[in-house]
Amino acid sequence: MELELQNIINLLKIRYKSDVLMFDDGFLLKNIKHRISETQCADMQDYHRFLEKNDLEAQKLWSLFYVSYTEFFRNSLTSSVLEHIVLPSLFLGKTNLKNKELRIWSAACASGQEPYSLVMLLEELNATFTQPLNYRVFATDLCEKQINMAQKGIYSYQAISNVTAGRLDKWFVQYESVYAIKQELKQRLDFSVFDLLNDKSACPPSSIFGNFDLVMCANVLFYYTKDYRLKILDVIMNSLAVGGFLIVSEVERQFLFNAHWQEVYPQSCIFKKV
Ligand SMILES: C[S@@+](CC[C@H](N)C(=O)[O-])C[C@H]1O[C@@H](n2cnc3c(N)ncnc32)[C@H](O)[C@@H]1O
Repeated sequence: MELELQNIINLLKIRYKSDVLMFDDGFLLKNIKHRISETQCADMQDYHRFLEKNDLEAQKLWSLFYVSYTEFFRNSLTSSVLEHIVLPSLFLGKTNLKNKELRIWSAACASGQEPYSLVMLLEELNATFTQPLNYRVFATDLCEKQINMAQKGIYSYQAISNVTAGRLDKWFVQYESVYAIKQELKQRLDFSVFDLLNDKSACPPSSIFGNFDLVMCANVLFYYTKDYRLKILDVIMNSLAVGGFLIVSEVERQFLFNAHWQEVYPQSCIFKKV
C-alpha cells in the first residue's frame, strides 16, 4: 500500500478509534478519491496534508464509510417475493405451531424505511387471517442518528416515491410537505442501536435470545472486507431459527453462494438457511 494512503488510514484510525482496513479496498479507495476530487487536492499526499489540518474534512471522509441511503420497498422483486411467498409461508408455518410468534430483525435499518415497509406487509397479511398472528420486529443500526430518525418516522415527499397511493393513505399522515408513519405502525417496531461487529452481543439485547424467522441485512456486507463480511454472516446465521430467511441486496447475493444458504426464488436476494 502506498505510504500516503497508509498515512490517511492511520489518521482515521487514530481519530475514530476504528480499524479502517475492515472496509473493502475498492470502497475505501473510491471514498478517498471522491474526497480528493471534491476538495480539489492534487493527489493523496496533498489530501493527507489537508486532512491533517481539517477536522471537518475528516468527518466528511468518515461519513462516506457509513452510507445510509435507503428506500421504502427498495428492491421490487424482493418485496414481491417477500409479500407473496415468504411471509405467507412463515405465517402458515406458525399457525401450526404452539409458539406462534413470528420474530424478525432488520439489522441495518438506517432511517427506518426497510422495517416500516416490512411491517406494512405484515399488517396487510394479518388482515387476511381470521386469527391474527403475533409478531415482533426488531430494527437496529450502528448509527444512533439513523435510529433517532427511524423512531420519528417522518419522511419527505421524495422518500415516499415507492409507496403506493393506497399504502400512503393507510399508513401515513401528511403534514404539509412531510409524511409521518401512523402510530399504530410505529408501535409494532422496536428500534435500538446495535453494531453487527460488536463481539459482546450476538443479537440485539432487546430481542433477548434471537431465534429470528427472518433477518434483513441489505446493503451493509458490501462495505466490508471478506473477514468482516464472514463475521457478520456468522452473527446472522447464529441468530436465525432453523429454516429462517436472510435478505440481502442484489450486489451482495454473491456472498451467499455457498453450502449454508439457498436462494428461495431466482434473483430474489432472499436466502434460506440450510
Ligand atoms: C446503505 S444503508 C442500508 C439500509 C437498508 N438496509 C437498505 O438496504 O436500504 C446501510 C446501513 O448500515 C449501517 N451499518 C454499517 N455497518 C454496520 C454495522 N457494523 N452494524 C450495524 N449497522 C451497520 C449504516 O449505519 C447504514 O445505516
